[in-house]
Amino acid sequence: MSKILIKNIKGLVQYGENRSAVLRGKEMKELPILENAYLALEDGVIVAYGSMDDWGGITDWRNLEVIDADGKFVMPAFCDSHTHTVFAKTREEEFVDRINGLSYEEIAMKGGGILNSARRLTEMSEDELFDQAKERIDRLMSYGTGALEIKSGYGLSVQAELKMLRVIQRLKRACPIKIKATFLGAHAFPPEYKNNHRAYLDLIINEMLPIIKEEKLADYIDVFCERNYFSVDEMEELLQAGIAIGLKPKVHVNQFSALGGIPKAVEMGALSVDHLEELTDEDIQALKGSQTMSTLLPSCSHFLSIPFGDARRLMDNNLPVALASDFNPGSTPSGNLSFVWSLACIKMKMTPEEALNALTINAAYAMDLSATHGIISLGKKTPIVLTKKIPNLAYIPYSFGDQLIERIIC
Ligand code: NIG
Ligand code: FE
Repeated sequence: MSKILIKNIKGLVQYGENRSAVLRGKEMKELPILENAYLALEDGVIVAYGSMDDWGGITDWRNLEVIDADGKFVMPAFCDSHTHTVFAKTREEEFVDRINGLSYEEIAMKGGGILNSARRLTEMSEDELFDQAKERIDRLMSYGTGALEIKSGYGLSVQAELKMLRVIQRLKRACPIKIKATFLGAHAFPPEYKNNHRAYLDLIINEMLPIIKEEKLADYIDVFCERNYFSVDEMEELLQAGIAIGLKPKVHVNQFSALGGIPKAVEMGALSVDHLEELTDEDIQALKGSQTMSTLLPSCSHFLSIPFGDARRLMDNNLPVALASDFNPGSTPSGNLSFVWSLACIKMKMTPEEALNALTINAAYAMDLSATHGIISLGKKTPIVLTKKIPNLAYIPYSFGDQLIERIIC
């Protein structure tokens, strides 16, 4: 058995028993921090924590790794509930095109964007995709990510979508952190289906989904509901087909335009609606009283220079907010959640506490991991992170661009 004792912790962050799985509106302001604390883990399970003052002491010191966390904080690892971590190649040329004046949508209309990634993915072997993604995940973990959702969606053919999902399945087995797989066959229409949407929907429903069901290749179904991509009706049909084989919806909506995808996704019981750079009163009304998490992706807004999601408006309406990276080669080439934390504070005016709640408890909910992740609680096998020496917790989002996570323990 591996046993770890972390002592002299400057602040034990986001701890507690029987806390709620979702934090809404004002509740997001509260972030419990226990000063001068200890935490004990056995095989990754939290077996004790408390103040150093009333520390009963460890009686069995055999095989015990003792970490002195003097001046450092311990928090639950971040949960990244929205990423595209499996991809073939980075897309710096589009980055330069955008600097020279083209928009993300214009690049996509020229056959760049998602279709660019799809062409490259077709040429890459499953092993190579796996090796590259594995390396990326090791890096994300070093930044403090302790759970990861990964989407397909750069395949856009039966073969290539399945290839991506099989890579994600292998990553689930090979990585020490929890990974969830999302089928995003409806990420873009392949060029050959541009004028025959029906045929691509049929391909997804009749060819891809049955194999995904058979091989248990996905946990969720996603659709990019957006002008020039999938309409609300197309999304509805695809989500229905996904639900029929046991996949919960988690969708891309309102990145560039509000088409009514949010009310529809909520009505269909979506676990989360993601992006929301655009947001209408109708969307807010639909989200109220629902079980759907609103997931905002500030690094994507930053990289594409598009509006930031209105976290304050959501919270003022007593809604919960989660934050994720959207790590992908086109719109968000960074998976660093400390940077997401900074952007949420600087650009979305979330307090450091609100943003950390959005990256832990609410993000865990957005990937069905509330039972184990996002909170330091007795009996849970929760990945945790140890920070470097910092004066206070707000120092992390304040020091944007710095890497202040020292170590992740899974
Ligand atoms: O979430 N918006 C759609 N999908 C991704 C971007 C995909 C790409 O450009 O490769 C996103 O931003
Ligand atoms: Fe995305």
